[in-house]
Amino acid sequence: MIIRKINAFTSEHFDLLLSADPNKHLVDDYLKRSFCFEAFENDTVLGVLILLPTRPETLEIVNIAVSQDHQGQGIGEQLIQFAFTQARENAYNTVEIGTGSTSFGQLYLYQKCGFRMTSIDHDFFIRHYDEEIVENKLVLKDMVRLSIDL
Ligand code: ACO
Ligand code: ACO
Repeated sequence: MIIRKINAFTSEHFDLLLSADPNKHLVDDYLKRSFCFEAFENDTVLGVLILLPTRPETLEIVNIAVSQDHQGQGIGEQLIQFAFTQARENAYNTVEIGTGSTSFGQLYLYQKCGFRMTSIDHDFFIRHYDEEIVENKLVLKDMVRLSIDL
């Protein structure tokens, strides 16, 4: 598997992007301002990683997704380590990520990779998403924000 820049977005990329973030308008908006990468093997896109510079020394993972057939094989963790390398090489000191308060597996993964919780954006998913999101039998309302200093 290699991780490389995305040159042209396909429907495969968008399926992955929307699995991590169902708000197409938000996705379209941050894609224009981000560094975009894909995990790729045997002509197949296995995952996506979108890195948005938010402040002079901060890079945010605004979207990370692995195709369902390839989840649980360590690709997500490799994409996060790749984000840390990109950040270091480009002189960013901090990497941030936000996820749903009901995304227990994702919260596990991010903390395993060294992220610490910093704040809660209350009602983020109520304010920014037209349709109710239900995950792990809970209605998703709040975003948990995490960060790591490199
Ligand atoms: N539920 C439970 N455990 C999980 C989950 C999950 N959803 N995701 C990862 N883990 C655990 C794995 O079991 C593994 O644990 P281990 O190290 O103890 O064996 C560890 O985290 C590493 O997992 P990976 O195999 O590296 O992760 P994967 O390749 O499956 O990718 C990802 C993780 C990207 C979250 C994937 O599950 C996915 O695409 N989910 C759907 C989209 C999504 O939720 N994206 C994140 C939204 S937040 C954002 O984009 C900023
Ligand atoms: N992990 C995963 N799911 C859990 C857990 C857990 N540790 N605890 C409860 N749940 C889920 C159950 O699966 C159930 O889900 P469902 O409604 O979808 O079926 C739901 O939560 C309700 O579970 P109960 O059976 O009512 O909870 P239980 O009687 O097991 O009590 C408690 C929960 C008190 C947390 C118990 O697991 C416990 O004593 N744990 C050890 C001590 C502890 O951690 N206490 C809390 C520390 S924080 C504090 O004290 C303020």
